[in-house]
Amino acid sequence: MPDIQNITILGLGYIGLPTAALIASRGLKVLGVDTKEDVVKTVASGAIHISEPDLDGLVAKVVSSGALTTSTAPRPADVFIIAVPTPIDEDNRPDLSSVNAAVDSIVELLSPGNLVILESTSPIGTTEAIAKKISDRRPELQVGMNGKDNSAVHVAYCPERVLPGQILTELINNDRCIGGITPSCTRMAQRFYKMFVRGACVATTARAAELVKLTENAFRDTNIAFANELSLICDRFDINVWEVIDIANRHPRVNVLRPGPGVGGHCIAVDPWFIIDSAPDLARVMRTSREVNTNKTVRIIERAEALIDDHPYANIACCGLTFKANIDDLRESPAMEVALHLATKYGERIKVVEPNLKRLPDKLAKHGVGFMTIDEALHACEIAILLVDHDEFRMIPLASRRHLDVIDTRGIWQDMPART
Ligand SMILES: NC(=O)c1ccc[n+]([C@@H]2O[C@H](COP(=O)([O-])OP(=O)(O)OC[C@H]3O[C@@H](n4cnc5c(N)ncnc54)[C@H](O)[C@@H]3O)[C@@H](O)[C@H]2O)c1
Repeated sequence: MPDIQNITILGLGYIGLPTAALIASRGLKVLGVDTKEDVVKTVASGAIHISEPDLDGLVAKVVSSGALTTSTAPRPADVFIIAVPTPIDEDNRPDLSSVNAAVDSIVELLSPGNLVILESTSPIGTTEAIAKKISDRRPELQVGMNGKDNSAVHVAYCPERVLPGQILTELINNDRCIGGITPSCTRMAQRFYKMFVRGACVATTARAAELVKLTENAFRDTNIAFANELSLICDRFDINVWEVIDIANRHPRVNVLRPGPGVGGHCIAVDPWFIIDSAPDLARVMRTSREVNTNKTVRIIERAEALIDDHPYANIACCGLTFKANIDDLRESPAMEVALHLATKYGERIKVVEPNLKRLPDKLAKHGVGFMTIDEALHACEIAILLVDHDEFRMIPLASRRHLDVIDTRGIWQDMPART
């Protein structure tokens, strides 16, 4: 394998920045590239623009040592890593414009011996499309498109599966799935990741690696959809869903997940669409799961409205806004969607409690809703819509919430008469 010394990473977000800092801390020279000038400036000053434990210290260290530099434009390197956003558009179709722009920005910089790695979550065939784009524009580089395994530039896919909040540890310890467009591309990428990954670097093809990542999130979405569907069935027959799940899970081969107000975040709620878009005639369970999970949010809104309309003078605590417990991330959050809907309809009667945010998001504030601590809300409100299972909410003793009419979408207050 050619000597690897210089790495260029495109995209300095939640994935690209920790990856850049980690690789720089292993004695390699890293150029971090981002199209956002403020991001480039912040990182160049040794600071960070995202919230992730221990990342600030590591970035400060590698920037001050000169191992990590930043720019808005890529420069030649031995390895290029693409870690740019891959969202869906309003029709739930993958938007690969950032990936395409990233490839366009490096294609003229490539030289024989280079390795190009896509880390962004991507639809099946994206890595091959990148290889083809490079091949079309730089035919002399022979990027494995001729059916022979003799690429001068190697192209591979290696998805990221880290958990925000534990990114630096998981970058090192998680197993990685690596698929090149040819076996020698896979081997070269494996050897590169082995320079800083302690987990296994499992080899496969580019297409399989793309689908592995999508499968992980579609599997979660489908299992949550089962739980959400079950919660609606229990509701109809006036059966406690939490009890049903707890007892069913005593079966040694059953593990029903917990229902909630829907599915949020930028991965589980998004990635299944990449499969559905590729094979709409086949991905029927995945599409239905997306619909079930989206519809669960609508059902929670309807139940909340029915309860609130029965109590015309009550104040309502909306407990939690984030897309899952104990984080500050609001992306695609069903809790936010419920709160926003209720805020639009009931205005200042709504009191939002979100211990992980310092201030109320503007789109809620403009409806005049209150922003309270949980203790203030317990005094001020007669109704509580529990939307996120934050630790702060789990710890509230029954005596402090006995007076409330509750819709508990996460099943953490099951010691009182509750609606799921
Ligand atoms: N955040 C996670 O927990 C996570 C986990 C697994 C996979 N992923 C996937 O990793 C990819 C990156 O996600 P993220 O959370 O880091 O996104 P992010 O939005 O935090 O960061 C992406 C960065 O890329 C920059 N960018 C966009 N186009 C660019 C270009 N052409 N050249 C250089 N920079 C460019 C953006 O300005 C942004 O700063 C996505 O595909 C995502 O689905 C993310």
